[in-house]
Amino acid sequence: MIRSTDIRAKFSAFWKSRGHAAVPSSSLVPSDPSVLLTTAGMQQFKPYYTGEADPVRDFGSKSAASCQKSFRTSDIDEVGDERHLTFFEMLGNFSFGGYGKREAITYAYDFITAEMGLAISYVTVFEGSASVPRDEESAGIWKELKSDIDVRYEGMEDVFWGPTGSSGPCGPTTEIYVRNGAGEDIEIWNIVFNQFLYPGSREELLAGTADKELKPLAQFGVDTGMGLERLAMVVQKTKTVFETDLFAPLIAALPAELDERTKRVIADHARGSAFLLSDGVRPSNKGAGYVLRRLMRRVFAYMHLNALSNDIFEALMKIVIAEYGPEYQGLMKERDGIIDAMWAEWEQFARTLDRGVKAIAAMPSIDSKAAFDLYQSMGMTYEIVKELGGTKARGLNREDFDREFAKHQASSRAGAEKKFGGHGLILDTGELKAGNEEELKKVTRLHTATHLLQQALKDVLGGEVAQRGSDITVERTRFDFSFPRKVLPEELKKAEDIVNAKIAEDLPMTFVELPIEEAKKTGALYYFKEKYPERVKVYYAGRSLETAYSREFCGGPHVTHTGELKKFRIMKEEATSAGIRRIRATVE
Ligand code: SER
Repeated sequence: MIRSTDIRAKFSAFWKSRGHAAVPSSSLVPSDPSVLLTTAGMQQFKPYYTGEADPVRDFGSKSAASCQKSFRTSDIDEVGDERHLTFFEMLGNFSFGGYGKREAITYAYDFITAEMGLAISYVTVFEGSASVPRDEESAGIWKELKSDIDVRYEGMEDVFWGPTGSSGPCGPTTEIYVRNGAGEDIEIWNIVFNQFLYPGSREELLAGTADKELKPLAQFGVDTGMGLERLAMVVQKTKTVFETDLFAPLIAALPAELDERTKRVIADHARGSAFLLSDGVRPSNKGAGYVLRRLMRRVFAYMHLNALSNDIFEALMKIVIAEYGPEYQGLMKERDGIIDAMWAEWEQFARTLDRGVKAIAAMPSIDSKAAFDLYQSMGMTYEIVKELGGTKARGLNREDFDREFAKHQASSRAGAEKKFGGHGLILDTGELKAGNEEELKKVTRLHTATHLLQQALKDVLGGEVAQRGSDITVERTRFDFSFPRKVLPEELKKAEDIVNAKIAEDLPMTFVELPIEEAKKTGALYYFKEKYPERVKVYYAGRSLETAYSREFCGGPHVTHTGELKKFRIMKEEATSAGIRRIRATVE
């Protein structure tokens, strides 16, 4: 049997021998603030497709290959069937102006047939649209490789990738289908040709949004993705992904009498939870933390309903750490943190779970509003309510529930904003804290300094830097951001010098208020964890919004000129968790 560790190794060796740099997986928490979690291997490479970053300078080649930790919340309702998962590993090869369709297709064909020993059932290619021609070239290359290959033409919905997030590279794809152990043809590999840049989301692209057009990219990009679990399922000839060696130890650790679907959901969610925790996510009511909370609480609920102890959950986490740790060191490093966080979340949920189960049982019917109340009051997540509610929850759907959720988040944010600058009394925005007028002045200066620092860090360290948190007291600003390694002393010095240069320029600091979509277009930085209202303020340091050195979504308060900061100093840099750095800094 080809083990999954062998598949990863073979894949990596295959691309190395074809001149690809082996790039490690990026964090599940992406630096791109427009996406919540990493959903594809190409995400960390977005700037290389657009030419904003230089792959040769960064990893010595125009081509790269990776095995990327990925997470898709869109599949959460499907988990429990043969092959849908939340967390998965994506094998991929990427080229940024290196090779074209011929090499991409030929290599993929060789890997699938010669290395994996699989037969291709059929391939799909793009049938063409009003703005993108039919992909005859790919069809021709497939036929040259295998004259009797079954080539099927499909449209935008199925064989046109991207963009991820609110804009990005995209283009037509060609997909490979192979037969699985259950005798069905499944898609195994998606080969994307990134030929365009689209200034909107995938939904906008499919809807043909006015004023938004595909623009050709200066260089031809290749982006491929192949789910490791599906490949293992086909290669190991199992009927489901849960019987592959990636999942078998987890399933085996669960009591045999549990029903199959429950076992699968628990195994998937425990694995996903361990990986999210290892990347520094902690359960919360927002963003990635909320996704994690839903996974963990669903496992707790199943354990509770089946009268099982959460020691089993802990055992599953430990299996994940042991099995995947050699490939993903972060799991080993964060081992204790992962287990502690699991029990801490249980501590919290245990107080209300039983009441929540009883409340659901007592309700005649449950709509989205009622479900949201259950979440608010007892922490019962959508998935649990849907499942326990059975037919009573027929009227409950995810869109309505999410709308209730968003409404609530917007109003609690508005509440936080009201506290801003209130009569110079105590300021507590969550981020800024001040006890009196004097302190307010100090934290305001530190607040502006934090904006300059974020931009300076991006200048020095690159686009991977994204805010992960910020806390300002009268003594210092504490800024957390994503970055995969220690920041070198000379890099800190550079960032510090940049901020001091911007202070010396005495730039005006002011804001414009814009509808959120327009504000995003200004290129202003924003914190992905935050839910923003319809209209937002964009604070900028510079003589105009366009030429500003720093632009950021923000509620204020700020100084009027950067010169007020006098002198900026970085005091300390350290790690807070995997992939997250923390800087403490002060102003004179
Ligand atoms: N980006 C494409 C996908 O995720 C190919 O890697 O399917």
